[in-house]
Amino acid sequence: MTENIEKVLLSAQQLQAKVAELGAKISEDYRGKKLLMVSVLKGSVVFMADLMRSVTVPCEIDFMSVKSYGDDTKSSGEVRITKDLDRPIEGYDLLIVEDILDSGRTLSYLRQVLSARHPASIRLCTLLDKPDRREAMDVAADYVGFTIPDAFVVGYGLDYAEKYRNLPYVGIVDPDKE
Ligand code: IMP
Ligand code: MG
Repeated sequence: MTENIEKVLLSAQQLQAKVAELGAKISEDYRGKKLLMVSVLKGSVVFMADLMRSVTVPCEIDFMSVKSYGDDTKSSGEVRITKDLDRPIEGYDLLIVEDILDSGRTLSYLRQVLSARHPASIRLCTLLDKPDRREAMDVAADYVGFTIPDAFVVGYGLDYAEKYRNLPYVGIVDPDKE
């Protein structure tokens, strides 16, 4: 499987260090708040599992799943909720945890849907940000792990056609070898 990885972009050690840094910052910012971390399935599941363990203030977690129509490497902008949150979020300080901010369309939609449910606040934490690809200009992340160039990346939860999510690092996939 790993023979199709062109290059390791972020090593397991780099990821671990960044997650600890983000966790510390979030813990500081959410002291005394009613933190609810919302992981957007499936890509953010590995990041979420690590990040929540580096958060030292009380928090609750929930999961949401969205499907954005399009091919394997590009979202079309049409988004549908396939698994919603379990409970109402009114009064919670929401932290949306995402794997990657690409066109921004998924998060633009999610933020809009979740704001309508009257949480106390909404912030966005993304492990990776590809600003060169942004189309939804109203979306910016409050916490960013790494800003990366416009390449298709896999691993640490991110997939290419559902594969590579289990890699412990983030790598660039070689589409010619797929
Ligand atoms: P957006 O709506 O274009 O911002 O797309 C967000 C979603 O597209 C992410 O949550 C990922 O599931 C997927 N995605 C975008 N870029 C990549 C990538 O480089 N590798 C893997 N998935 C990606
Ligand atoms: Mg995906």
